[in-house]
Amino acid sequence: MKTLGDLRVRAEVVRALGPRVAWRFRSLNAEAERLRGAREPIYRRLWDEAASEVGATVRDLGSGFLELRLEGRATRVRQELVDIDSQAAITLSFDKTLVHRLLTAEGLSVPEHVEAGDADALLREGAVVVKPADGTGIGAGVTGSVRTAGQLAVARAAARRYGPRVLVERAVPGEVYRFLLLDGQLLDVVRRGRPAVTGDGRSTIVELVAQENRRRLEAAGEDGLSLVRPDLDFVYTLQAAGRSPRSVPADGERVAVKTVTNQNRAGENATVRDTSPELAAEAAAAARVVGLRLAGVDVIAPTLDRSLAESGGVVLEVNCTPGLHHHYLVADREGATRVAVPILRALVG
Ligand SMILES: Nc1ncnc2c1ncn2[C@@H]1O[C@H](COP(=O)(O)OP(=O)(O)O)[C@@H](O)[C@H]1O
Ligand SMILES: [Mg+2]
Repeated sequence: MKTLGDLRVRAEVVRALGPRVAWRFRSLNAEAERLRGAREPIYRRLWDEAASEVGATVRDLGSGFLELRLEGRATRVRQELVDIDSQAAITLSFDKTLVHRLLTAEGLSVPEHVEAGDADALLREGAVVVKPADGTGIGAGVTGSVRTAGQLAVARAAARRYGPRVLVERAVPGEVYRFLLLDGQLLDVVRRGRPAVTGDGRSTIVELVAQENRRRLEAAGEDGLSLVRPDLDFVYTLQAAGRSPRSVPADGERVAVKTVTNQNRAGENATVRDTSPELAAEAAAAARVVGLRLAGVDVIAPTLDRSLAESGGVVLEVNCTPGLHHHYLVADREGATRVAVPILRALVG
């Protein structure tokens, strides 16, 4: 059922896009669903490769489940779902406000935030990010580059579609990095660039986004498993940069179109090899505090060559059942870290 809040969000997006352009994106959900279908073969390939590396056999159980077996030990996986963490740790990790509190108590920096308190005070000092406080992932209901009280109200409505609790955070500048940890060991780090388009001097930003989505559909998942949604985050991110969805970037000009990184393309992800040991230890501490053995710790930092305490970076969130494809679908595919190998060893080794 559509609520008044839904309509408010929709009206804001349609107003910025223009009704004709908004109508052209009507098939986006069906297309996104089609692209999601590409996840299964990509994960199949990744697990097959890991199994051959560790000498395990693979049995297809159907419905996307694989059974991986090495000598007497067997495990079952389904894409990124693995049998490693407890249900309690997984559920706890979804509560972003609680996780912020636990991380802070451990001495780790998190973005300044309020859940129930006065978010206007935070807004007066600069842009904020508004998100569901509990139970979501993949950027659902997250709106960045929120700068006015009016935008804050609409962004709250967008987050409330996913649940009653809403978290407002200081927008932290800098790049977003995914640290993948297993039992305290850092398996890989990927830099995740914000979704961007490159101008041709003729097309509007929304047209460039439509072209980008077409390319991703044609690549059948190999250039990323999501599409760029022209949503509230898109509208406010462009507004903050003094643009509109209908402006025309110059030929060759690169424009970041979202603050939320989740819908970027594979080519915007890069494997990072030189992370300071102090920073790796902070990421491991974040995973431990949440109680996850396998964790995707998201960090925003100006540099990875020193600890967060020194660089002024933050731990943004600690993800359970982290997507393994982020580590494979990167700009340099040959140089990607085969993270499924140590994970499979932990399961059946
Ligand atoms: N406080 C913040 N400052 C800057 N960017 C943010 C902030 N919070 C979220 N983001 C961006 O939005 C994305 C999604 O937010 P996140 O809290 O990770 O939600 P989800 O659990 O849905 O992935 C992040 O990966 C990041 O790109
Ligand atoms: Mg996230």
